Amino acid sequence: MIVIPGPASRELGEQIAKGLSTVPRAVDHRIFPDGESYIKIYPELKNETVVIVQTTAPSQDQRLIQLFMMARTAKALGASRVICVVPYLAYSRQDKMFLEGEAYSLDLVIKILSDLGVDDLIVADVHNEASLDKVDERYSIRIHNISGVSLLAGYLNENGFKGAYSLSPDKGAIHLAQAADSLLGGGFGYFEKTRDRRTGEIEMKVKDLEVSGRKAVVFDDIISSGGTMARAIEGLKGQGADKVAAACTHALFMGDAERRIREAGADVIAFTDSVKTSTEGVTITIAPLVVTELNRLVSE
Ligand code: R5P
Repeated sequence: MIVIPGPASRELGEQIAKGLSTVPRAVDHRIFPDGESYIKIYPELKNETVVIVQTTAPSQDQRLIQLFMMARTAKALGASRVICVVPYLAYSRQDKMFLEGEAYSLDLVIKILSDLGVDDLIVADVHNEASLDKVDERYSIRIHNISGVSLLAGYLNENGFKGAYSLSPDKGAIHLAQAADSLLGGGFGYFEKTRDRRTGEIEMKVKDLEVSGRKAVVFDDIISSGGTMARAIEGLKGQGADKVAAACTHALFMGDAERRIREAGADVIAFTDSVKTSTEGVTITIAPLVVTELNRLVSE
């Protein structure tokens, strides 16, 4: 396997290459004064399995076009199989046409990758796993979703949160809390979050939970503005939770998200390295999970 860490995921790509006992292949990359990206990857790739590692966190559009350029070029250079590792898959939250006339952006991104000849796509904790099945069956690309929750829960279990209650801030993410509970063992549940499709406003219904005097962890796929996480933490603290951790796979932390979450009462913030962030917290690498998945794919 030849591993090519893209400009958005150099460190993660290097760790994945190390885990596969190979040397990462460099990419020449620069941004022209008008904002366009230049990409050059190095031959020989003929008849090789090529793994491109490129997350698509902000700036999403730029990161996506770079991903498309690398995938297309690898194919043009004769790679026999192209596997894209895109831990954070941008545009995956728009996983259908919620309002008539809206662009179905998840479908668009997958269609482009498939049309470029990408054989496999590895993503981490995609917003709605079921949405992948629908696009997967329409295109030739195969999509594989891995989860960082066991790594996050494992860390918290060893660091003061054993027996903690696992919460997801909305019903759609209950599988994350459930997976975490298999390690933490303190029960799991969810709050009910609704988002106004027109204004984007969030409303959270805080249910009564048995968390008084206990530790709790809120698990979500993404922290972006921090609003969802902050409200969930306030809900838990308001019911007397003693110590609360905020955990997510994709630490986008836009604007003052970190401050909002800390002010809401988070005692610990933990996330994976699916995207690069300057947020202070515990970072857990997903490289070993990606390596395991790659080994599984090539041995199939
Ligand atoms: C959406 O439902 C996702 O699972 C996250 O809850 C959401 O993206 C978090 O966004 P924010 O941090 O802006 O509230």
